[in-house]
Amino acid sequence: MENQRVVVLDFGGQYKELIARRVRECGVYSEIKPGDTDIDEIKRLAPIGIILTGGPDSVYKDDAPRCDVKLFELGIPVLGICYGVQLLAYSCGGEIKPCKVSEYGRTKLKADTNSLLFKGLEHNQTVLMSHTDQIYVLPDGFRSVASTKNCLNAAIECPERKLYGMQFHPEVENTPNGTDMIRNFLYEVCGAKGDYDISDYEALMIEKVRQQVGNEQVILGLSGGVDSSVCAALLAKAIPGQLHCIFVDHGLMRKNEGDEVEEAFKDRALNFIRVNAEERFLSKLAGVTEPERKRKIIGEEFVRVFEEEARKIGNAKFLAQGTIYPDVVESGANKSATIKSHHNVGGLPDDIAFTGLVEPLRGLFKDEVRKLGYSLGLPKNIVERQPFPGPGLAIRVIGDITKEKLDILRDADAIFRQEMEKSKVKADQYFAVLTNMRSVGVMGDFRTYDYVVALRAVKTTDFMTCQYAQVSHAVLSRTTARIINEVPGVSRIVYDITGKPPATIEWE
Ligand code: XMP
Repeated sequence: MENQRVVVLDFGGQYKELIARRVRECGVYSEIKPGDTDIDEIKRLAPIGIILTGGPDSVYKDDAPRCDVKLFELGIPVLGICYGVQLLAYSCGGEIKPCKVSEYGRTKLKADTNSLLFKGLEHNQTVLMSHTDQIYVLPDGFRSVASTKNCLNAAIECPERKLYGMQFHPEVENTPNGTDMIRNFLYEVCGAKGDYDISDYEALMIEKVRQQVGNEQVILGLSGGVDSSVCAALLAKAIPGQLHCIFVDHGLMRKNEGDEVEEAFKDRALNFIRVNAEERFLSKLAGVTEPERKRKIIGEEFVRVFEEEARKIGNAKFLAQGTIYPDVVESGANKSATIKSHHNVGGLPDDIAFTGLVEPLRGLFKDEVRKLGYSLGLPKNIVERQPFPGPGLAIRVIGDITKEKLDILRDADAIFRQEMEKSKVKADQYFAVLTNMRSVGVMGDFRTYDYVVALRAVKTTDFMTCQYAQVSHAVLSRTTARIINEVPGVSRIVYDITGKPPATIEWE
């Protein structure tokens, strides 16, 4: 049975995937399409609703992105968000101009709870505003249903034509009741039935992957982390017999991790191959200190190993990866700024010897990947694993990388993780970092001059922002005492209390 669907038309806003995700969260399948998608294509998709995203342009400029104005005559409910509401109003005859006072950040909103958009919500709301233009004159037949101090038309509607819009962003966490507003649009206006869940995504992706790869062989880089494991389980179901999972032990894994991954996957029907490539990676990384350079080297070397394995298998044509949406955003795809090149996106070399990339998780957020993992029948110890970056400990040894430094870090990190696991502290990711700094200490009667280890523990749901975890002093003291006593080469321990932003979770 076909799911009901919502089409999200993209006008270049940074939150389009978040909008699509909120719609999925409300139990409705959504698909992102370019803003100028042909009207006949939209009719063919037969959506129950259309959402117009935000975007950086001014709608009254000649080169601003537009949609076909017939969109607003189809009788299909439309919700415009930020640029999307301006485009809606402009296309229907309203007037848009620069704001006298631009609004950025969390803002108080007064909502008309008679509007279906705000049904069941309080009159006073907090919303995220981020705009330099706004609607000054409403099109005929529209009315304002929410306002802020500086924006009279913060939400508008023309229920007779099923056209709605919000100047603010309901899709972000900074609009606490935003998902309820989106849900109202879906259920009260579009007549959603809530017929979508993660198992529909599974079925859809299985079909897509089969179409993409045909009878060809596929190589998957399996690190044992959540994303690549879920990807492996999905592909094993989609293309049994055509999948070969390569686990590259690059010598940058945590303590005993290589053997643990092999143990967890060798008996599954994944054609599991372990490649021990420590020497190869460490020699390529010798003397390299610049974080982006490290990532690129590792990304390239991974692919070279996969290519060699592909030749052994008999020319596998496709490379599969467990890339998820936050990897794509932070690597600077979609015109966002590059924060760091996640090895599986920005770290890929240009000349890869594969016909295509298979990335079935590319539109999902971490928590959705975990749900998919459960729906595919993976065990909790795999699905709930903390993320571990593809470049591994290379980006946790600050500065140049040596085997000696990696071993020090492995031991210190293992102790911290053991102590965290023994305690009741709730953190979503925790690890140790070997700072490239040495510091003077005293042990017994001797002067020491050894490394400073930093401990990092964070709380987050989406890994795109985080707060530091409030680890108890007792846990920090025990960890410190053990590392100093058990790990030669470390003389001092510090705890990192920076959030993201301004820091990132990893140090490099
Ligand atoms: P940052 O450091 O960007 O990390 O705040 C966000 C989350 O992503 C993980 N991470 C990576 N994962 N390849 C990955 O697969 C990478 O290159 C990479 N860099 C960071 C990090 O551990 C955290 O969970």
